Amino acid sequence: MSSKIKIGLLGCGTVGSGLVKILNNHKQVEIAKIFVRNEKRAKQIAKDLALDLAIFTWNIDDVLTDSSISIVVELMGGVDQTKKHLIKALENGKDIVTANKDLLALEGDDLFAAAEKYKRTIMYEAAVAGGIPIITTLKQSLAANKIICLQGILNGTTNYILDVMKKEGKPFAEVLMAAQELGFAEADPTNDIDGHDAAYKVAILASIISGKRVDVNKVYREGISKITKMDINSAQKRGYEIKLLGMIFNNEDKLDARVHPVFVPLDNPLASVGMENNAILVKGDASDTITLIGKGAGSLPTASSVAGDIMILISKESSEPNPLQISNFTEAAELKNIDEVENSFYIRISMHDKLGVLRDLGEALFRHNANVKFIDQYDVHGSEAHADFIIDPIQEKELRAIVKDLEAMDSIKAVESVIRVL
Ligand code: HSE
Repeated sequence: MSSKIKIGLLGCGTVGSGLVKILNNHKQVEIAKIFVRNEKRAKQIAKDLALDLAIFTWNIDDVLTDSSISIVVELMGGVDQTKKHLIKALENGKDIVTANKDLLALEGDDLFAAAEKYKRTIMYEAAVAGGIPIITTLKQSLAANKIICLQGILNGTTNYILDVMKKEGKPFAEVLMAAQELGFAEADPTNDIDGHDAAYKVAILASIISGKRVDVNKVYREGISKITKMDINSAQKRGYEIKLLGMIFNNEDKLDARVHPVFVPLDNPLASVGMENNAILVKGDASDTITLIGKGAGSLPTASSVAGDIMILISKESSEPNPLQISNFTEAAELKNIDEVENSFYIRISMHDKLGVLRDLGEALFRHNANVKFIDQYDVHGSEAHADFIIDPIQEKELRAIVKDLEAMDSIKAVESVIRVL
């Protein structure tokens, strides 16, 4: 790429800081200006992120009207004022990247209309499920499918609370308070607990899936504040986990989009997604079901989605070969030789049932510095016995030396199986 693409940042909190770190490694992008609310905050961030104070401004127009900036990245939140600022950025010919789900769910119509009017693009991967690339998956990878349904854990705070209630047997109010003390849940947790945050995300996803405007106020919504320990215990006893799910069914005349707690069977992949993680099952008419699991919030995961949107915009604007599409790479990747790779191993052997066999085995493993995690001797009959064990990670070449040693031992008949352990 010949010249650097300049971007302007509106807001530089948790996600903005993550983005600055990621873009430090992407030399084709330059953060030309950062808008923050005042000089004091600018000085603090400049110091924390080792940035030049000169790129900061507390006058938002400096970013919105700077003709050298081609992409405005909105990470400051807010709805009405923010909408006005972003429309001004579009008017000034800038593409937008935003993580603002409230804004998109409540005022998306006006924003997208303005983007169409000014022939600009709004990207918003980070607005739904943080670091999970669900928007790109729906809009690009699954573009040829009719999406039949989507079910997801779209709010990390409530998933964390339900998981801790289950694991520690504590009531909702107590877990919520602990989560707030840990700085995990917001001081005013209503947005998460009552399902508003998940409903915004469902409205955005339902719009993409249906290709129609979805009014977030018409998305049915129940939160988790009424879920008790007894509900969780009953669910467990019957083979379920209780999860707050966002759900979209798109196989009848009317779209069915809602957020509420659900008994999820244990064999459903969503059941095993614990703590603050997010997960989404999406079923296309051709692709069938795809599962995405990952971080729904956090500095670097969310910034990863923002940075991905920036890369996509850059590749679209670039007159040079699209870096996202190039597959005839000229530089050869250096692959690690398997001898150098480290793995943990499961090993099963057959041996003679006689005194000292296990001592011989232990000594052989000791000679190779192989630490045994567990060992089991079983199926002893006649003069034959079997044993299996798992060893801590060692280099593959060391493993081969162990196998050779074991096979050479009189007391061992054969090494019957060697399987790598994750
Ligand atoms: N508060 C949200 C959550 C993250 O707990 O998942 C931002 O949407």
